[in-house]
Amino acid sequence: MQKLMMNSRKRIGDFEVIDFVDDERIAKLRQKLDVPSPMEVKWNHWEYGSEMEELRALYEKGKRNQWNASDDLDWETPVSKDEWVGNAGASQIVQILQRMGADEATQKAALFDEMAYVVSQLLHGEQAALQICGQLTNACPTTDEKFYAAQQTADEARHTEVMARFLSEKMGTIYPISPVTKDLLDRLLAADGYHKKTLGMQTLFEGIAMSVLDGLASQMTNSLFVDMIQRVKLDESRHAAFGVLSMRRAVQEISEEERQELEDWAFEILEALNANQQLAMLREIGPKYGVDPERWVRKVLSTEGWNMMNSWMYMHTVMPNLKRLGLVTERTEPRYRELGILSDIRLEQPATG
Ligand SMILES: [Fe+2]
Ligand SMILES: [Fe+2]
Repeated sequence: MQKLMMNSRKRIGDFEVIDFVDDERIAKLRQKLDVPSPMEVKWNHWEYGSEMEELRALYEKGKRNQWNASDDLDWETPVSKDEWVGNAGASQIVQILQRMGADEATQKAALFDEMAYVVSQLLHGEQAALQICGQLTNACPTTDEKFYAAQQTADEARHTEVMARFLSEKMGTIYPISPVTKDLLDRLLAADGYHKKTLGMQTLFEGIAMSVLDGLASQMTNSLFVDMIQRVKLDESRHAAFGVLSMRRAVQEISEEERQELEDWAFEILEALNANQQLAMLREIGPKYGVDPERWVRKVLSTEGWNMMNSWMYMHTVMPNLKRLGLVTERTEPRYRELGILSDIRLEQPATG
């Protein structure tokens, strides 16, 4: 197991964070648009019938649930900075500003910015998903997986379309991609073989997206926003299920050495994501409101019960699915616990679909 992005790490208290602070490096990472990817393109061994019934059923469900971002949403709905766009109690930036004694108009504007930031990160993730699913259509070995990956490619195009439109038309800003996310998504795009790509995108990123979307759906007040998020969420739950159905077979067929390699791969990605602790968001939005990112993160990390709060995002879908796949063992479990990624809430459920 290795730690990723070593040259951007530092300690805040007892916790090791990844904090990109060098503007030049960040700009270079964002301007890197070409990602070489060694890819083995597979024919389906001339088997056109269904070999994975449960995956074919998911594909059928996906066909029935298609929607059109242009026609099915009410784009006339206004979205305003002067109103609470969501639940202030669930917003990190609002909590900070309240402690700093900011007035209500400032808090509303900050919540609006935070939401635009979160949706922007989802948008960039959608673009990566679009590209990785295109790769998976080529790299997966069976017809059912190819059909599903192709269908998901169309879903991800729609998600990219709808979020880009929402941000530019309704919120007025698309924030740039967080450096940690860009680094990790580049790794998925460049990964060799479909196992790492499927695990990384379908199980890890889709699983995290499920928890973020669920959080947004319950916190947001704007009807257009909620409608968009609910529709995207329905698609993403199928994608997370694809990750589990496809990886479940793969994990049974590979050697113990390859299984350990996948276990490490999952750990490295989640550890790096968790090591950012919102620093990217606070560095982007904080300065406008006089917020010191590091000071705040230090405070959060030392809050009592931090592990439990922190693990919510991972325990929602990702960790139950990884556990079910046999990719969390005694090698990684204690480390996940120590990092506040694994806790005892809800380890039995997801897979979704
Ligand atoms: Fe998506
Ligand atoms: Fe997706």
